[in-house]
Amino acid sequence: HRHLLGIEQLSPADITAILELADTYADLNRQPHKHGDALKGLTQINMFFENSTRTQASFEIAGKRLGADVMNMAMQASSIKKGETLIDTAMTLNAMHPDLLVVRHPQSGAVDLLAQKVNCAVLNAGDGRHEHPTQALLDALTIRRAKGRLHRLSIAICGDIAHSRVARSNIMLLGKMENRIRLIGPPTLMPAGIAEFGCEVFDNMEEGLKDVDVVMMLRLQKERMDGGFIPSEREYYHRFGLDAEKLSHAKPDAIVMHPGPMNRGVEIDGTLADDINRSVIQDQVEMGVAVRMAAMDLLARNLRETRAA
Ligand code: CP
Repeated sequence: HRHLLGIEQLSPADITAILELADTYADLNRQPHKHGDALKGLTQINMFFENSTRTQASFEIAGKRLGADVMNMAMQASSIKKGETLIDTAMTLNAMHPDLLVVRHPQSGAVDLLAQKVNCAVLNAGDGRHEHPTQALLDALTIRRAKGRLHRLSIAICGDIAHSRVARSNIMLLGKMENRIRLIGPPTLMPAGIAEFGCEVFDNMEEGLKDVDVVMMLRLQKERMDGGFIPSEREYYHRFGLDAEKLSHAKPDAIVMHPGPMNRGVEIDGTLADDINRSVIQDQVEMGVAVRMAAMDLLARNLRETRAA
């Protein structure tokens, strides 16, 4: 592949190849000497038009660990503020010959559009409600390491599914790897056309969590609810917030996940989120660096092959 725009374009074999390489990087990242040279001589530009802690930091660390020259564009201070369009900004940066462009944007489809205009490899770091492929890949690696496999698991994705690119990318990835997916949340936060996702849908946590292997919680994405129904946080926590009691309906060894940023006491109990016997939230962050190293390494190999041909 030339770009990493979404899980939609990846085959099960592609997903497995990224996870296999990421597994080796995850082990390398635990060594005192962490550096490789897979991206040596390449220029990576990170363009985040939306806030980020985890994704931006891990793409930067991943690039630096593999020897790339990494530049973080401060989009708040850029000429976007003077009315320059996304495409003009991208073309300007393209003229500086970057090799890898990492882009987060609030509009669904913006990253795909940008990828059609530039000569380098583009990685989608989250576009609107559409896709967040590296998040789904790091979730998959976390599940695979915790459960020993990434197939025939029962996985619950809970909360604000309608506004979540993380949910969309995970539903696609976990479905391609032949897992059973349950979506749990209030009907107002389920996307239209939910039937075509091929998942079971629940509006009750106790029923939906019954005997699942993995519980994936999502944040209430108020910034995307533009004028629509916003539930009260207290009521939401009571019905859909994950606590020890609700988790007791899942398998005894079920793991708890959250992509972050997390709102304690809204979608998840803070004590449960910190319980290292159940929660793999910090492992997800750790795997994020490894998955981004693997994704950029594979795209760079493709880039070098294409240029050599
Ligand atoms: N999970 C995730 O995308 O977090 P950030 O918004 O902090 O990057």
